[in-house]
Amino acid sequence: MRVYLNGRYQERDQAGLDVDDRSFLFGDGVYEVIRLYDGRPFELDRHLDRLEQSERGVWMEPVDRGTLAEVVAEFAAHEGRTWPDAIVYIQVSRGAAPRSHSFPDPPVPPTVLVWARPVKPVAPEQARAGIAAVTVADDRWARCWIKTVNLLPNVLAKEAARRRGADDAVFVRDGMAIEATSANLFVVRGGRLYTAPVTNYILPGVTRAVVLELADELGLEVRLEPTPVEALEAAEEVFLTGTTTEVMPVTRLDGRTVGTGRMGPVTEALWRAFRRRVGRPGDA
Ligand code: PDD
Repeated sequence: MRVYLNGRYQERDQAGLDVDDRSFLFGDGVYEVIRLYDGRPFELDRHLDRLEQSERGVWMEPVDRGTLAEVVAEFAAHEGRTWPDAIVYIQVSRGAAPRSHSFPDPPVPPTVLVWARPVKPVAPEQARAGIAAVTVADDRWARCWIKTVNLLPNVLAKEAARRRGADDAVFVRDGMAIEATSANLFVVRGGRLYTAPVTNYILPGVTRAVVLELADELGLEVRLEPTPVEALEAAEEVFLTGTTTEVMPVTRLDGRTVGTGRMGPVTEALWRAFRRRVGRPGDA
């Protein structure tokens, strides 16, 4: 497997990352995950826009967008041809400098890492069955809109879910269910589709934005409001959206069955529309 590191393509085991890299020492870096479907990056512009927002969010000078677009195109053209289902990962850190909480002064060049890996596509039957989730207190910081590599709360929440026999965790802040550990949250209540509005407390998901467009095309009634945790119990349908999650029903939540325990009709309409949007209508 090859990686792109600071301007060079090299084999993964040849790529030397400085032990002083600030992403390693402080989690001082930001990232993006872009899905490739048959060698085509899905919603590349939105991902590059968000990367730029994240870089500015941590007071970093954005890496040249044209360069990143070329690198993604290179992985799409080669690895993307070998792997019809893949992701491209981009990570930008503040660079390597002797450990100090202060920003390096003078600034050092950022560390730019890009690689592609195959992913296992979600089988339609798996999507119809859905996943189990549990709710957990959201103990993340107040800048969740920045896609930083500082993911320890997310990692711990995911592990807490696993230890409770579930697949993922839904973060609850101030009594509101807002998003999952690496996906956004949608809830169908009273026939309406709810998802948390974009605030500093959620990541503005690219898939979320696409699903909102699809919901609009389907004429669904949408409310940009988070769901009070007590209202989850009565929800007809719950689903997650994300680059690797795609549209995934949550059919068991905190040990209870959601709706019929299978993918519900609103989720199914959006799931089918999403399959069409990514150029895989046959899978649905
Ligand atoms: N995670 N919320 C959080 C906290 C996320 O980490 C992600 C994505 C999303 C969904 O965003 P998008 O639709 O743009 O992928 C929401 C990526 C996939 C990850 O960390 O691997």
